[in-house]
Amino acid sequence: MDGALFRTQTREYDINNVTVRGTVPVWFSGDLFRNGPAIFEQGADRMRHFFDGYAMLHRFSFREGVVSYRSRTLKTAEYANDKKLGRIAGNEWGTAAWSTAGFLTRLSNLSGPATVDNTNVNIAVMGGRYVALSDFSTMVSFDPHTLQTCGHVHFEDRYGDTFMAGAAHPSADPVTGDLFNALSRYGPSGDVALYRIAHDAPEKREIIAKIRTKKQTYFHSFGLTPGYFIFIEMPWELDIFRLVTGQLRGIPLAECYSWNPQKGTKFHVVSRKDGTVTTFSTEAFFVFHTVNAFEEGGKIVIDIAAYPDASINAEFFFDHLLTRGLSRKSAARLKRFTLDLDTGIVGSTVICGEETFDLPGISRNVAGRAYRYAYGLGMPDDPGTDFPTRLLKIDVTRGTSTAWQADQAFPGEPVFVARPGGADEDDGVVLSLVFDGRSGTSYLLILDGTTMKEVARAVLPHRIPFGLHGIFVEGHS
Ligand SMILES: [Fe+2]
Repeated sequence: MDGALFRTQTREYDINNVTVRGTVPVWFSGDLFRNGPAIFEQGADRMRHFFDGYAMLHRFSFREGVVSYRSRTLKTAEYANDKKLGRIAGNEWGTAAWSTAGFLTRLSNLSGPATVDNTNVNIAVMGGRYVALSDFSTMVSFDPHTLQTCGHVHFEDRYGDTFMAGAAHPSADPVTGDLFNALSRYGPSGDVALYRIAHDAPEKREIIAKIRTKKQTYFHSFGLTPGYFIFIEMPWELDIFRLVTGQLRGIPLAECYSWNPQKGTKFHVVSRKDGTVTTFSTEAFFVFHTVNAFEEGGKIVIDIAAYPDASINAEFFFDHLLTRGLSRKSAARLKRFTLDLDTGIVGSTVICGEETFDLPGISRNVAGRAYRYAYGLGMPDDPGTDFPTRLLKIDVTRGTSTAWQADQAFPGEPVFVARPGGADEDDGVVLSLVFDGRSGTSYLLILDGTTMKEVARAVLPHRIPFGLHGIFVEGHS
């Protein structure tokens, strides 16, 4: 793995005509927005975990074969405050601010995790407004043209601006544009409120169901079908005593969760019609990302990038990541779970056992429906492997894979964009932001969605650190 993937990039760019090699398809028009951690220091302090870096937004615009690019640091309250103080003062996921501060500062933080608004994980469009998201409930809006930060999203509901856990990946209804997400307080028990944000009323989170779990558990994404919203309760549980006492010892939130596999993993299936909840239990697995979910003959099928346990989180601490990288053994596989609504039985099968698989993407046209192709990122099958470098297309009906990879090339999350009017599910392109270890710069790769062969690349003059997620918005935003 190349350490430059996780090196700070502070510079903001505006490039009107990015050098293109190959030919961008003429039908291809719109904007790719991406988010990810990009700045890992403040003064003498350094972030301890990859997920903690200050957010940077990127936009690639495609207009009649011409590509332009813009990047801006997300100017959050936390970023501004840290910059003013010259140290990391917010309590990040894997970096406890108090670990770098004095004892009195630690005491003043005892009330719990302070508000963190470094929303560096994902992007969503909510009622026409562009927002940056993380696994905390705070959302930060930005201007899609200038990429300037606008400020916190304020909700006019009973939770208001309360700082809670939320998921970086709301599920979007492909027909209505409504978003589904969850909220849960950092506390001794695990009350989870599942909510919907209607596309035409984005200021209000309408609670559709509540789930009580014994402890607060980590969640990052969901399943959504036309009839159901699925919350996954993993046995990665918050130890509130450790969280409170850990503040004196500089233990961050990420190290306050413990993996309890004997409890298994649960699917809470919520009827979108009446809010009734049906719970299914299965073997323990850890998940960041669901791939797709759909209904089929009285069953719910949900495909997941499933990890054997939660050790991937520890591997993203820089101490581990920069010396040992990620391990193939603890990586995720694409798994299919089938939840039988009549019998309560859960079936599970590995779809493509040869490939590790995460950072999934599908055609928006098949979200919530039976589908055939999942795109993602996997690790090469060789002993020297310490990072995923294979862009994958998996035929989920056959369990076969097609891959793109190149020497010293480190691709990010693939985003599939369907060709307007295309008949086949994979008729379109796959976008991925790639870091080229040979040149030390990045490029936006465009692959043919059918063959996974390169169509074109837009070559940047600079390096972009390994990012997380983004969205493609068709046409002119
Ligand atoms: Fe994610």
